[in-house]
Amino acid sequence: MSFKLDIFEQELKSRQQYVETRLEEYLGGEPAQPPVIHQAMYYAVMNGGKRLRPVMVLAAAQLAGYKAEKVLPTACAMEMIHCYSLVHDDLPAMDDDDFRRGKPTCHKVYGEATAILTGDALLTAAFGLMASNAKIEGIALQDVVRVIEEVSQAIGSQGMIGGQVLDLDGGKSLTHEELNFLHSLKTGELFKASLRAGAVLGGLNEAGLEGLTRYAEHFGLAFQITDDILDVSGDQLVLGKPI
Ligand code: IPE
Ligand code: IPE
Ligand code: MG
Repeated sequence: MSFKLDIFEQELKSRQQYVETRLEEYLGGEPAQPPVIHQAMYYAVMNGGKRLRPVMVLAAAQLAGYKAEKVLPTACAMEMIHCYSLVHDDLPAMDDDDFRRGKPTCHKVYGEATAILTGDALLTAAFGLMASNAKIEGIALQDVVRVIEEVSQAIGSQGMIGGQVLDLDGGKSLTHEELNFLHSLKTGELFKASLRAGAVLGGLNEAGLEGLTRYAEHFGLAFQITDDILDVSGDQLVLGKPI
């Protein structure tokens, strides 16, 4: 089987656009009260991310034979969770980065306290959005509950946050296994949760879910290795963050 990169790129672009439009609907328009937090949430999300995680939610639902539009709220929720994690990751107490996606980081524009609250608000909104997916016709309530439970595990103290905690000790030398474990938690869990969310809502069977889970684990590891190499050898103008 040959891999057609141009078809892949077209597909990716059309799904990214789909997510972009819906995120704009959720976060754009006249900011609600108090305006500053809603402006900061908009700033933290509507800034040119690749939208890989929501695209994975859509693609997995389609793989299960389901319509992508039915899982859009959950797809957007995964991007909000990702953006919250980036806002907090860039804070002075963590990676202390000044640029993200080619623009000053959230705390550089809105201050540290508002950036912390922006992350909190995005995370909270994401869970509301996932729950709201139950209102879409054809989506089973028990599948939504399963997704919410899986996502909370994937991003919690034994998932993404656990990985971030391990990463705080950045100077420490790690064994190959320790590094794999750190990466699988820090980055892999959210990719895995995204793919599984789309597939669960789309009604994929357990064997299919297992296969998708293995794929997600390998993808997450390859992604983090690439990201770490680019952190050292990439171009700030292309990556939009300091090298
Ligand atoms: C970067 O993720 C941060 C990591 C989890 C390693 P992405 O490369 O997906 O970032 P955006 O969303 O496109 O900015
Ligand atoms: C960010 O990891 C991971 C999370 C936000 C969970 P990194 O610190 O390695 O990614 P960049 O380099 O800031 O994008
Ligand atoms: Mg960082």
